[in-house]
Amino acid sequence: MTTSTGTDWAAWQESWDRQQESYMPDREDRFRIMLDMVEALVGTAPRVLDLACGTGSITGRLLTRFPAATSTGVDLDPALLTIARGTFGGDERVHLVEADLKDPDWRAKLPYDSYDAVLTATALHWLHSEPLAALYGQVAELVRDGGVFMNADHMIDDSTPRINAAERAQRHARMDQARRAGALDWAEWWQVAAEDPVLAEPTARRFEIYGEHADGDMPAPVWHADVLREKGFGEARPVWCSPSDTLLLAVK
Ligand SMILES: C[S@@+](CC[C@H](N)C(=O)[O-])C[C@H]1O[C@@H](n2cnc3c(N)ncnc32)[C@H](O)[C@@H]1O
Repeated sequence: MTTSTGTDWAAWQESWDRQQESYMPDREDRFRIMLDMVEALVGTAPRVLDLACGTGSITGRLLTRFPAATSTGVDLDPALLTIARGTFGGDERVHLVEADLKDPDWRAKLPYDSYDAVLTATALHWLHSEPLAALYGQVAELVRDGGVFMNADHMIDDSTPRINAAERAQRHARMDQARRAGALDWAEWWQVAAEDPVLAEPTARRFEIYGEHADGDMPAPVWHADVLREKGFGEARPVWCSPSDTLLLAVK
């Protein structure tokens, strides 16, 4: 996707979306409901923190729907941040920050100390529950009173093993179908990035940082709601769910 005339950042965004959608066919629904709830609770010109932003998937959809919004994207992955910078470079509404959310001081790198909405998708399952609870405490301090936090991710309720097994089997069968139809999986997508002249170097660095990342699972939605209330939010509950995923909303 890099030619002699430059890099086609929109093509990288598109290819990232197709790869992610092959795992989550409902991904756009999750984003849509997330932005519906942003509008409902903090309006159409919010200051947003896109936590573990990757290529800026939330930021892009936010600014398309709410042109008066602003966004700070934070991530640790140098390759995905390169795509985000290529996409949003020159847009004064967007700040991109390279930081590790497990670093106790990551918030010092942010341009603001308060946000109307902190939003995250398909990312925090990379953190175990202890560092995740600590992160929720830090997020609670960043959200202004009346502001919101939303996390859309794969959250597992261990009390329903048969439902989980059936859902998982169906989801994997559909992923296999997507592969047969030509969708790149995670490893193949990174292989393409590693061969791109512009992304090769940051991709090598991201593998030094993360290694071969294996996806983890998150605790049940009720765990997130309980911890978020414990950390300072007034209300917290799911506002959308599919058989595999939940969008959890907390209001401060
Ligand atoms: C699957 S991607 C999702 C990106 C984006 N939210 C989306 O939905 O397209 C997960 C992201 O979480 C980021 N991430 C995981 N652990 C992180 C950490 N400790 N600090 C910062 N970012 C992290 C990864 O670098 C990656 O960009």
